Amino acid sequence: MYEMDHNFIPVNTRVENLLGCMNLQEKVAQMIQIPYSKVSKKEALDWAKRGAGSFLHVLGDNARELQKVAIESRLGIPIIFGIDAIHGHGLNENATIFPSQLAAACSWNRELVEAMAQATACEVATDGLHWTFSPVLCLGRDTRWGRIDETFGEDQYLAGELGASMIRGYQGESLDSDESILACAKHYIGYGEAVGGRDSCDTEITLRKMREVFLPPFEKAIKAGCATIMCAYGSIDGTPVTANEKVLRHILRDELGFDGFIVTDWDNVNNLVTLQHVAADIRDASRMAAIAGNDMIMTSSEFYAVTIKLVEDGLLDEKVINEAVRNILRIKYRMGLFEKPYKKGRPGCIGCMEHLELNKKLARESIVLLKNNDILPLEKNISSIAVIGPNADNIRAQYGDWTYFTHPDPNPEQMPIKPYLTVLEGMYELAKENGISIEYQHGCEIMHGSEVDFEAAVSAARKCDVIVLVLGDMIDQTGEAKDRADLALSRVQVELFERLRNLNKPLVTVLVASKPLCIDSIAKDTDALIVAFNGGMFGGLAVAETIFGKLNPSGRLPISFPRHSGQLPVYYNGLSGWHGGKYMDLPAAPLFVFGEGKSYTSFAYSNLRFKEKSLSVTVDVSNTGKVDGLETVQIYFRDCVSSVMTPYKQLIAFEKVNLKVKETRRVSFTFNRSDFSLVTPGENRVTEPGEFILMVGSSSYDDDLLQIKFVL
Ligand code: NOJ
Repeated sequence: MYEMDHNFIPVNTRVENLLGCMNLQEKVAQMIQIPYSKVSKKEALDWAKRGAGSFLHVLGDNARELQKVAIESRLGIPIIFGIDAIHGHGLNENATIFPSQLAAACSWNRELVEAMAQATACEVATDGLHWTFSPVLCLGRDTRWGRIDETFGEDQYLAGELGASMIRGYQGESLDSDESILACAKHYIGYGEAVGGRDSCDTEITLRKMREVFLPPFEKAIKAGCATIMCAYGSIDGTPVTANEKVLRHILRDELGFDGFIVTDWDNVNNLVTLQHVAADIRDASRMAAIAGNDMIMTSSEFYAVTIKLVEDGLLDEKVINEAVRNILRIKYRMGLFEKPYKKGRPGCIGCMEHLELNKKLARESIVLLKNNDILPLEKNISSIAVIGPNADNIRAQYGDWTYFTHPDPNPEQMPIKPYLTVLEGMYELAKENGISIEYQHGCEIMHGSEVDFEAAVSAARKCDVIVLVLGDMIDQTGEAKDRADLALSRVQVELFERLRNLNKPLVTVLVASKPLCIDSIAKDTDALIVAFNGGMFGGLAVAETIFGKLNPSGRLPISFPRHSGQLPVYYNGLSGWHGGKYMDLPAAPLFVFGEGKSYTSFAYSNLRFKEKSLSVTVDVSNTGKVDGLETVQIYFRDCVSSVMTPYKQLIAFEKVNLKVKETRRVSFTFNRSDFSLVTPGENRVTEPGEFILMVGSSSYDDDLLQIKFVL
């Protein structure tokens, strides 16, 4: 009866009723988020009793214990538990570990990305948790940055589309469903673009540029109903985002109508004092953060005492606190937390078969074939394969960052729990089916170390018909504070490649890496090149299936590959200049471009038509090769003459189509005028009349695109 009554009272009324019963201490406590791994058990329980709004990085029974204390406290406001479940519920050892966001982005598959998020939500909820700090909507444009693996790549349209899909997957139809959790679009804003790729430095962009390039994915996240947004560590043109009222309060809330809550990133409030030096002390910093519009304060728990004092001393209006608490409580009510403080999830779903099968599908669509001198798929008459290289049997590298052995306390010894298949294991499985023998040699470590055995690698390769060489990077080279000035593949790996290349045998190179590495010479000399970023549990299987032709690869790069670190950035949608398209010592163009990826079949585009009245485009796409395949139809546009400079091409739509041999499909898209807009120096989004060009095809290479002109 009690619950039914509540269901009929509008959320806002419930929020106001509760707020009216709260004292100042209880209100400020709601704004606090405690990192479970950094406090003692006693402190954690004390915070739960005091009414802390949220905890992060706590799992299962420990979370349930805290929740019990919270709901038995004076007001009984349930805690909301957050976790970094960013490619699966990775901090739980038994969970399904999916491909990283960057790998998943190679699929350009909205449905699969949504399904991955839905499965993750189910596993997180079954652990009794409510909230994931995902998706990452930062753009991966300066690939020296250590967190490129967490992004959807370099393009704002692709990141926005896949981000919105992920949010829908996490949050489901309704926030109060047993299997839904809250999403968190992060890191708002500009974090990935920090100067020099240096984690959390200043992002030297204007607000115009911020709106043009970095805001669109967050706008899509808000439209998809994203419940929370995380404030970035960094600053925009010298103003820390944590203290930026315009960016947080005016743009997110007033303009975009965001009605969830904003959480800071780790220790952002203290950082205003210790790193960014815009506040003299924690009092100053807490005041700034609250006024700017941060609702929940991650880890800077000093905020609690000083903020209470600030209000008591009349230095901070209690209205600011009330508003933050309202934003938090509204979400707590919307997710039904008061009725169901313990998330149920779906018992048995953690690491279940259904999720593993979905994981395989996504891993398969994440594979990108970048070169193939007709040696793949392997011929049936092969009898032996040498599988060599430091990442051939390296499940830690295959999983990537944000799993139980990297967070919250990195454990270099811990091995993942099966089921998973490394490239080597996948190769063994498929070789067995095909009666082929495998010779395995490690060859060398990722970085120069003691374990270099080129001789053993060369002699294994000598005995075999084909060499599969698996290179890349390792977990220690990716993540927060792991930015790299030099993205070249390590010298020792290049040397291993050269020794094997000298044998003049068919050579397939596989890159298992967290981001694009500089592999210019390898790409030139290898017979085939497969990129399998951090493919999760079944990344290795998907590679093996590609090599044996059981899988026709369909991934497309969501990010460009530079030839050399000195070229960075090389994203496709930059603005043009008078540098002749080259450096003195290198071309300016990347090695592989955004949208690129091969298939074992071929596709042809024809009959491109555009209807100006309805702003719709149609194109016929045909499978002209010998096997069925998936094609990603990509549409770019150019504004021919614009009042501010605009990119030579910008992705505006895409669709993945499954085409049988000889099949032709007509693909159509309809646009709005606003899809062709730009941001003026006065920060307004406008669509300027005039000529535009649409480009339709299979990658962002000019040669792969048909063009049509139209007038708006
Ligand atoms: C810091 C990271 O920047 C953010 O992405 C993450 O969600 C939080 N820590 C919590 O772990």
